[in-house]
Amino acid sequence: MTDKKSIIRSVGSYLPARVVTNDELAKTVDTSDEWIQQRTGIKQRYIAAEGENTSDLAAAAGRKAMENAGLTIDDIDLIVVATTTPDMTFPATAAVVQQKLGMHHGAAFDIQAVCSGFVYAVATADSYLKNGLAKRALVIGAETASRILDWNDRTTCVLFGDGAGAVVMELGKAGEERGVLATSLRSDGHHWNKLYTDGGPSSTQSMGHIRMEGKEVFKHAVGMITDVVYKVLEDTGHTIDDLDWFVPHQANKRIIDGAGVKLGLPPEKVVVTVDRHANTSAASVPLALHTAVADGRIKRGDLVMIEAMGGGFTWGASLIRW
Ligand code: ACO
Repeated sequence: MTDKKSIIRSVGSYLPARVVTNDELAKTVDTSDEWIQQRTGIKQRYIAAEGENTSDLAAAAGRKAMENAGLTIDDIDLIVVATTTPDMTFPATAAVVQQKLGMHHGAAFDIQAVCSGFVYAVATADSYLKNGLAKRALVIGAETASRILDWNDRTTCVLFGDGAGAVVMELGKAGEERGVLATSLRSDGHHWNKLYTDGGPSSTQSMGHIRMEGKEVFKHAVGMITDVVYKVLEDTGHTIDDLDWFVPHQANKRIIDGAGVKLGLPPEKVVVTVDRHANTSAASVPLALHTAVADGRIKRGDLVMIEAMGGGFTWGASLIRW
């Protein structure tokens, strides 16, 4: 295994054209803009068009990330897609993305860790690169969460949105300070029935819809997030004050604020997109990363902490020198 680090060379993202505001949602769901904003910070979400699948969103975000790096698909030999809303039960959505991007070589597979999927995918690509199993990876988080929502369940359907984000990862130069410095991944399957779909190929031979014990998720989220953040800080000898940017999974503004307060992070260092994107599950972190890179906040050399927590429960954090 090399001691070179995996760097994030570029970021890209894609959002469907259709924006659905809370007020628009309130026309068909027994809810209100005030309730949703107060409890979650969400103002709107993007919803994929009919026939627009997770692989379409993923491929669009992937193309953008490659374009931003000045690369083509010929330069990529690994595609990892983190998703909970695959186009089909099989093959992996990554295989469909591979076809859509015109890639005939390399390898492509999906990661399923629900909202933590992107952090798991970054960790996976990091290992593949360091172990010589791939030279350059396109790591994508993509979701059409709208397809697994029960639109009659107001406790869940107001929370989620569709979208995709992607990064290109490759090994940096020897001695280079940039790159993924440390990652901590966790799961505890004893909590699986607090956030799940009530169906699947093996159990019901159907897709199922999102079911959630919201208060239980909330109760565990802040502690789990802060545990892995402290772990990667400790592993790298950094403190919270060293962080330039905190890019959390965008589930809920109250969870983000709770974690920020517990960690002692100034709000201006926290990247928040949940107001515009809602919870896009595995896509939320790369969407937030692209937002903050594109608007000039995250710059080369910055110390960036990404983290996520979600169904399983799964959770994880990664510290990256940008
Ligand atoms: N609009 C209006 N009223 C609603 C809605 C809605 N969309 N949803 C629930 N209510 C009502 C309930 O029926 C209840 O009414 P009642 O008092 O008459 O019974 C009332 O609002 C309060 O409901 P609670 O469930 O107690 O609301 P709570 O304050 O717990 O907020 C929420 C719910 C926002 C889901 C909260 O529990 C939460 O933030 N949980 C975290 C879960 C989360 O963010 N999950 C995302 C996926 S997981 C992840 O990505 C980490």
